[in-house]
Amino acid sequence: MTATRQILVTSALPYANGPIHLGHLVEYIQTDIWARFQRLRDNTCYYVCADDAHGTPIMLRARQDGITPEELIAATQKEHEADFADFLIDFDNYYSTHSDENREFASSIYLKLRDEGHIHTRTIKQAYDPEAEMFLPDRFIKGTCPKCGADDQYGDNCEVCGATYDPTELKNPVSAVSGATPIEKDSEQYFFKLSDFSDMLQQWLKEGHVQKEVANKLDEWFEEGLKDWDISRNAPYWGFEIPDAPGKYFYVWMDAPMGYMASFKNFCDREGVNFDDYWRPDDQDNNKGNIKTELYHFIGKDIARFHTLFWPAVLDGAGYRKPSGVFCHGFLTVNGQKMSKSRGTFIKARTYLENLNPEYLRYYYTAKLSSGVDDIDLNLEDFMQRVNSDLVGKVVNIASRCAGFITKKFDKQLSAELPEPELYDEIVAAGEQIADHFEKREYNKAVREIMAQADKANVYIDENKPWVLIKEEGREDEVQQICTQGLNMFRLLMTYLKPILPATAEKSEAFLNTEFKWSNIDQPLLSHGINKFKPLLTRIEKEQIEAMTHDSVENTAGESQPDAKNGNGKTRPEAAGGSPLAKDPIADEISFDEFAKIDLRIARIVKAEHVEGADKLLQLTLDLDGVTKNVFAGIKSAYDPEDLEGKLTVMVANLAPRKMRFGMSEGMVLAAGPGGKDLFILNPDDGALPGMKVK
Ligand code: MSP
Ligand code: ZN
Repeated sequence: MTATRQILVTSALPYANGPIHLGHLVEYIQTDIWARFQRLRDNTCYYVCADDAHGTPIMLRARQDGITPEELIAATQKEHEADFADFLIDFDNYYSTHSDENREFASSIYLKLRDEGHIHTRTIKQAYDPEAEMFLPDRFIKGTCPKCGADDQYGDNCEVCGATYDPTELKNPVSAVSGATPIEKDSEQYFFKLSDFSDMLQQWLKEGHVQKEVANKLDEWFEEGLKDWDISRNAPYWGFEIPDAPGKYFYVWMDAPMGYMASFKNFCDREGVNFDDYWRPDDQDNNKGNIKTELYHFIGKDIARFHTLFWPAVLDGAGYRKPSGVFCHGFLTVNGQKMSKSRGTFIKARTYLENLNPEYLRYYYTAKLSSGVDDIDLNLEDFMQRVNSDLVGKVVNIASRCAGFITKKFDKQLSAELPEPELYDEIVAAGEQIADHFEKREYNKAVREIMAQADKANVYIDENKPWVLIKEEGREDEVQQICTQGLNMFRLLMTYLKPILPATAEKSEAFLNTEFKWSNIDQPLLSHGINKFKPLLTRIEKEQIEAMTHDSVENTAGESQPDAKNGNGKTRPEAAGGSPLAKDPIADEISFDEFAKIDLRIARIVKAEHVEGADKLLQLTLDLDGVTKNVFAGIKSAYDPEDLEGKLTVMVANLAPRKMRFGMSEGMVLAAGPGGKDLFILNPDDGALPGMKVK
């Protein structure tokens, strides 16, 4: 093998105001597999990431949840890290852009760019919310679409007719923060002169560091001419203050990619790795006796411009190396459509994990991913079939068909030779092609090739029928050999699959009593003792998929937007779906008159029943001294319905009836307590009687 490589890879930093969902995971799984593949090939490959913790949406989300931005980002990061760990994403470091290291980089890089003359200031007009006293990003302005007249559209594009426009063109614009009408206000902003780097960037792009499709898109931007980039935002803003400009903050996209460096720096300081080896300018590699390193960013197509124009220019201007490659992937659709909360296809990482094994998804994405920027579809039916037939039916099946004989009949010993070494060598030889596909991120081709080899192995076992031979006298040796051949082929397949299925590979290593390494695949395991076979992967049952879809509808109910991203990089402010710490802040004040309108009554629960298909609801029949009301209440976590019957509760008796998914709800019951299992309803004592007014 050639000299080993020194590689640093990154995935884009997820925003710290929302949960990880299956769309995000396309990227983290893709990157993780590449990093694991490199390590399996004995290269050094560090994989770092972080939460992207700054920006207006995070500031407003924290405000809305009644917590500080620091509390929000800490809680979110904890959740993100747990989700990634459970999906077997093996980061060397997971950090935050709101860190000392990142503040250092933001400041030093900015000052360098300023001193080199790449920063200048200009006064510009921007939308301003006079009530919230803040400047408004485009997507925090809503109004009527100037093209088709649809109401309630965002400041940058219309979801109904697809038109894109300037927020100033919106009719009847209102601030999504306060509801006030935005005004235009002047302020001084700091700009990065991207055009200073035009030649450098064009040269860099010619060298093939980005995919063809992305390069074509960039050519369009070059033709339009590179515009200056506004890197500052006015207070109030959640981010780093610009060192020489009090009251001005770095725009989140300025310090976000620096988070790659900050996370790596934090790792290097802890682990004693040389940071500069990976970030010094390209021309200082090799010729100065320094080691040659590689840097790759995995990203979604929506954020290509930030990584292929601004970021290399900033790096170059500040005296750092540029990426060896920026690898763009497409967007995830589920059952052929954009992820949708109401269809239950907006699936959070956690909801998936509560129902299914992470390796199924890792495998399915791998089977679908190519090196291009095409969107990939998670078809849930196909997902189930593919996993069941490939992983369970083909791969694991080889081991389970051979294991029993070796353990029971041959004292766990493999034979001294292979009956068909040519077949084994063929599967070894396929390894080069498979490795090449992994290296080029042609994962779908790698999977196709691995499964073609698995087919061969299965044909071999089908033809040799050890289960028949074992019944014939004097043919034991043959059975041992056939099963040794089978298990050795299984070992090869699992070695190739190890970057995709790390947990199953680990179990298989324990079973075969060996570590799977790419470097020794040509040496079969012979006269080797193995361990007891334990089931490796089970089939996906239809019910698991249904449960996940069902849970997804419930888990996203009340979150208003269909998706956190629409593929054009437009994040919806309210799409994130609540922070894990949301404290239910005390709501806005109401007047006494408004309060007096609420008719609170004691009601007796005469009947309480489960609701078919609902995880959280109970259906209650309430009696208010003769008047009967039907109410759906989200208190299933706290009560068995039988325990409720006969108890008293306080209800809002004059709430307008609401049509719910399961029927009409004619009021609302009140219960108090921390939630979950501890929700309290009244016991029938103290002379409270159904129908009584409560205030
Ligand atoms: N915070 C920025 C990235 C900063 S990198 C210096 C961001 N965050 S994100 O949470 O919105 O997205 C993180 C990554 O997930 C991006 O690369 C994005 O393209 C990817 N995806 C988010 N939704 C996706 C799908 N539905 N499908 C595939 N990838 C998706 O952008
Ligand atoms: Zn429109």
